[in-house]
Amino acid sequence: MVDLTNFDEQMRKRVTEIKSIIQKYLPEEEGFQRTLLEAVNYSMLVGGKKLRPLLMQQTYVMFGGSSAVIQPFMAAIEMIHTHSLIHDDLPAMDNDEYRRGKKTTHIVFGEAMAILAGDALLNLAYETAAKAFDMEPENPRIGRAFQILSGKTGLDGMIGGQSVDVEYVDRSLTQEQLYFIYKLKTGALIESSMMIGAVLAGASEEETEKIQRIAEHVGMAFQIQDDILDVTGEQEVLGKPVNSDEKNNKTTYVTVNGLEKAQEDVARYSKAAIQLLDELPYENEFLRELILHLVHRRA
Ligand code: IPE
Ligand code: IPE
Ligand code: MG
Ligand code: MG
Ligand code: MG
Repeated sequence: MVDLTNFDEQMRKRVTEIKSIIQKYLPEEEGFQRTLLEAVNYSMLVGGKKLRPLLMQQTYVMFGGSSAVIQPFMAAIEMIHTHSLIHDDLPAMDNDEYRRGKKTTHIVFGEAMAILAGDALLNLAYETAAKAFDMEPENPRIGRAFQILSGKTGLDGMIGGQSVDVEYVDRSLTQEQLYFIYKLKTGALIESSMMIGAVLAGASEEETEKIQRIAEHVGMAFQIQDDILDVTGEQEVLGKPVNSDEKNNKTTYVTVNGLEKAQEDVARYSKAAIQLLDELPYENEFLRELILHLVHRRA
């Protein structure tokens, strides 16, 4: 069993390792499009928890994966996530000025360059994931992982969820509508991360389906906690503004259910995820602990 006496230290070590993996796939800042390249690198390197590549890597390890083929996918999911954040912060969407402790991309580079940096990162994600095909041309699982990566990002995934999120402002939402939005806008990339880890490590269809359900719960807990922190957090710790949801007249899990119920449900979803995880005949104590830690996160 992994020694978890110092979870925080292990976490720091792993995040540092993930940052260096991602760095390998980022572009040089040169040529006439240099400003765009600077905007891309600024957005990717300013901070962030690197949760999605971490979940992908740890799920991969749990299923016995040990090849470097996971690395381009780890970089790719963080690129897609960062794309979603750059666009989420734009004036046309949540209109926020801070992200990951720094000014948002559109504040530093202007709106046009931020839109393009978001587009560029979405595209770079697929260019990067496609490098896995060159690494292991005979590996049929890479195609399946690529399908998951693209599907969970698109119309029935993160982008679809963001569209409903922005369209349904200023109105009350049912629990079902709220669940739909959170499952897509936030859950989908977390599902993508964990499912790709499982698939590339050789998990069966049944196991991958179970991982999807685990990730769905993690995603719900994660977005509800995000809503809670929007009300109870501090900008210095969060790295992004508080009260952004109120400013945008968003109906959130907190406005619908109240703070106390929201807190209870974060714990409930996370517990459900752990129960399913414990049913699998594999173990990764660090992954288990990571999911549990997310309940109490302050950033
Ligand atoms: C923020 O995600 C957007 C949501 C889905 C709530 P994170 O909280 O993972 O953001 P970073 O990557 O750490 O900045
Ligand atoms: C996050 O929703 C969803 C995506 C960025 C895909 P939020 O709008 O609540 O995220 P934050 O709070 O700005 O990070
Ligand atoms: Mg938003
Ligand atoms: Mg936002
Ligand atoms: Mg939020």
